[in-house]
Amino acid sequence: MATDEAPIRIALLGAGTVGSQTARLLVEQKEALEKRVGHGIELVGVATLDPVDDPWIDQSIVTDNAAQLVTRADIVIELIGGIEPARTFVLSAIEHGASVVTANKALLAKHGSEIYRAAADKGVDVYFEASVGGAIPIICPLRNSLVGDKINRIMGIVNGTTNYILDEMTTKNLDFDSVLKDAQEKGFAEADPTADIDGFDAASKAAIMACLAFNRDVRIDDVYVEGIRSITAEDIAAAGELNRVIKLLAVVEQDETGISAGVYPVMIPEEHQLAKVGGSFNAVFVEGEASDDLMFYGRGAGGAPTASAVVGDAITAARHRAKGVTGSSIPLFSDAPIKNAADGEDVYFMRMRVKDQVGVLAKVSQIFADSNVSIKAVQQHEKEESSKTHDLWILTHATTGRTIRDISDKLEKSDFIDSVLSTMRVFGE
Ligand code: HSE
Repeated sequence: MATDEAPIRIALLGAGTVGSQTARLLVEQKEALEKRVGHGIELVGVATLDPVDDPWIDQSIVTDNAAQLVTRADIVIELIGGIEPARTFVLSAIEHGASVVTANKALLAKHGSEIYRAAADKGVDVYFEASVGGAIPIICPLRNSLVGDKINRIMGIVNGTTNYILDEMTTKNLDFDSVLKDAQEKGFAEADPTADIDGFDAASKAAIMACLAFNRDVRIDDVYVEGIRSITAEDIAAAGELNRVIKLLAVVEQDETGISAGVYPVMIPEEHQLAKVGGSFNAVFVEGEASDDLMFYGRGAGGAPTASAVVGDAITAARHRAKGVTGSSIPLFSDAPIKNAADGEDVYFMRMRVKDQVGVLAKVSQIFADSNVSIKAVQQHEKEESSKTHDLWILTHATTGRTIRDISDKLEKSDFIDSVLSTMRVFGE
């Protein structure tokens, strides 16, 4: 865009899958983006320690000196990931007066409040749409569109790897290990899938959403986490018999007693909108007091989809720069207690293998009764005549995860149970 004023300088830290696509959108769509901003923009530097061979990145702007680059930009896009050196670069960029765009969920889930405060103090923007749900606009609605409402609960499928694995297990009747192996071979799952399948990636996203929804400094250490490693084909089949599907959900909620944030597998009704989210897609279901139910759906990962969110943020920041204003800050003023999600009350499903003996059902029921947990339904699944065991499925009335663990421990120690095979929350009962 021809203008006498200097263009808004954009610096990119990181040139991996998302960084490369971010640079592509900024360069290939420069003209349209400048018209949308109403001001010139220029990608002035790409900091990376690796060689860059993308045709849309001019080699003359590639540098290995991120610390220096952040001092000569108006907008710094951080796509390095991890805590350090990303945190240092982000804080330095803010200190030098740059607005920051980041996709770094791990950084925000640990140091978000420090970064939001630094940006507010300095009068610059910090945007992070890509940190939760990739291309899905969910941060902007929580920060802006829904700011007039009271959010009661958010349930998110915010990890594509685990949704892909559970969906393959459900639709193709496969076991966890074979789906994971296949997903790794196809490049859908990381070589080290721990952060995804053990729920930590989703936990970061839960913390970020909880901060925005409840104006409370909620960090990853406040998030209760269970992954999907122990889910079997039998659990998936049991869910099916109960007209449910198993999804790994990030759940953040607030009531008059406080805030809780957790990531755990849940049996959800087949007709729930989240049950229909297949493959590696993500979706976030928001329950607002006034707005009622809302759902945001789309691609939660991948170079181009994530870059779409990153560039959207960069253009928002650039529009503010062009007008000499900043967008909304992130006030974390709430001191509501943060509760352990394991203390929240839910209906539970428990599957156990019991000895084929007279009175076993009475003894199992007694253990539930001793913990003051009411049983809603029992189903017995006969094994072959020779096995001398049966599978027993129990659906409880609402109780806490802690109580269910105690019951499970007592059952495991008893002499009439072979083993407790699984326990899982059930929503929609
Ligand atoms: N690894 C994540 C996923 C994407 O599987 O959805 C980045 O957070």
